[in-house]
Amino acid sequence: MCGIVGYIGKRDVAPLLLEGLQRLEYRGYDSAGIAIHASGKAGGLKTAKAKGRVRELESRLPKRFAGTTGIAHTRWATHGAPNDENAHPHMDAEGKVAVVHNGIIDNAAELRAKLTADGVEFASETDTEVLAHLIGRSQAEKLEEKVRDALRHIEGTYGIAVLHSDFADRIVVARNGSPVVLGIGEKEMFVSSDVAALVSHTRQVVTLDDGEMATLKADDYRTYTTEGSRTTSSPETVEYAAESYDMGAHDTYMHKEISEQADAVDRALRGRIDDRFSTVHLGGLNLDAREARGVRRVKILGCGTSYHAGQIGAQMIEELARIPSDAEPASEFRYRNPVVDPDTLYVAVSQSGETYDVLAAVQELKRKGARVLGLVNVVGSAIARETDGGIYVHAGPEVCVVSTKCFTNMVVSFALLALHLGRIRDLSVADGKRIIDGLRRLPAQITEILEGEAEIKKLAELYADAKSMMFIGRVRGYPVAREASLKLKEVSYIHAEAYPASELKHGPLALIEPAMPTVAIVPDDDLLEKNRAALEEIKARSGRILAVAHAVQQKADHTIVVPKNEPELDPILMGIPLQLLAYHTALSLGRDIDKPRNLAKSVTVE
Ligand code: AGP
Repeated sequence: MCGIVGYIGKRDVAPLLLEGLQRLEYRGYDSAGIAIHASGKAGGLKTAKAKGRVRELESRLPKRFAGTTGIAHTRWATHGAPNDENAHPHMDAEGKVAVVHNGIIDNAAELRAKLTADGVEFASETDTEVLAHLIGRSQAEKLEEKVRDALRHIEGTYGIAVLHSDFADRIVVARNGSPVVLGIGEKEMFVSSDVAALVSHTRQVVTLDDGEMATLKADDYRTYTTEGSRTTSSPETVEYAAESYDMGAHDTYMHKEISEQADAVDRALRGRIDDRFSTVHLGGLNLDAREARGVRRVKILGCGTSYHAGQIGAQMIEELARIPSDAEPASEFRYRNPVVDPDTLYVAVSQSGETYDVLAAVQELKRKGARVLGLVNVVGSAIARETDGGIYVHAGPEVCVVSTKCFTNMVVSFALLALHLGRIRDLSVADGKRIIDGLRRLPAQITEILEGEAEIKKLAELYADAKSMMFIGRVRGYPVAREASLKLKEVSYIHAEAYPASELKHGPLALIEPAMPTVAIVPDDDLLEKNRAALEEIKARSGRILAVAHAVQQKADHTIVVPKNEPELDPILMGIPLQLLAYHTALSLGRDIDKPRNLAKSVTVE
């Protein structure tokens, strides 16, 4: 969703900010804007804004738009339509203050009414403009104090960057619930809401905590709380280089990210396997063996794809560690006043680590004294920081809105957690070893599946005419079917339904006819015959079937054969060809693969 970039140094700022905004495009946005301290005698702030893409903004920049300090923003509309006026930065009445803001100001309507009563005229419908006026009206002397004054009135979430024409030597930033990362350069400083916009300039970053502010000058930065006390924050090195954020030789990020999965899984396993005890080491878990034995339930919370990964994870934990486990959409959990049990281990799963619904569920759980682990991809993200411990899934940067490699690595990480908990409880050494051997086989098996891409492409083209598709699976295969159905609909816009194969007779069978193909997950496990019976039922209604199985299925029109691993780990492999199926279906339909309509990569609002 919204994105912030800022720069202070000696270089021409506009091209730098535009490049930063382009790197944030993947998050999803509907307008963009920029404000700079203009160089030259006249000085002062100059802004440009445009509805639409960053290239639209670029084409609108005035001829004279030179400066070495500036802030910029990509906006995803919440308060007010996506148009030029509502695009950030927002200014105060005198045009001395420029603010870019991620998050939502909950009491904006109330503050707006007060300011209007005081004679302030608003130029936009946004909540953010309130903040610009509050900063502009503060009587404090220093910019930091003005911002602090304004923030005292604000209820809600924010990541902000502020320019003031009387303080041309600095950018002031603040964070509460929306990420702000400082990029530390040589006699130049950067700021962004996402490291993706920083890594081409510096890998030295400082991530602000909630309630923290910072002042950036060209050769210096300092951090402090919103109350004004100094904080210490030494720079950390970003794990991935700038190239990891680029598309490389691929035509889309989705294709690149699907293709990277063997390496990504290898990375998730690296340094974690302990052959001596047939278990794994998960350094950041912060859960000792005694505590792990005391866990009576596991509750996994996530949204979308991450929730589906959590569903597979819950089954793995239940099977390997024999702890009752389930997954629930975080977006629902937080609204049903859940019973929070001290013996339950909560696991928040998220690629971005920023998803508001997941973060809010974590905060509610923490408030009630629960122990919450994070299973997160983005290091240092809000959820990673808010949780008591956790597992980084190490998938590497995922840019495509449609999650693929992160899903796979999340499921692998859940397998690690299940194995760890299992070996502390009743999972035998032999079974621990069996799972470890299976995990080690995954990268090569993923490569084998990806080598079959040409065949999957043909199948995708064959089924791309469908208006609607059914996805079925049983037990371990059901969350795989759900995730595959989500993948197809979000990237190809083909309607898709996912059902447990066992539920067909209870209603969905009525939909089956030649124009409604079914994708069936048919692993060679103890439910094989049951799954085959479902294929019979569909065939008897003249339904077309594409099976994903360990061997060719006679009743299916087509089968994608995937290599067999251990039954508990098979869901990891069975999902991968269906990512390719969704990708090639979308490609043949000419969809905007990396940025499907109406979707954003990080859903940082409700
Ligand atoms: C995945 O393809 C989706 N775009 C979406 O469901 C996503 O998984 C969901 O919004 C959760 O995001 P997170 O993993 O960053 O928390």
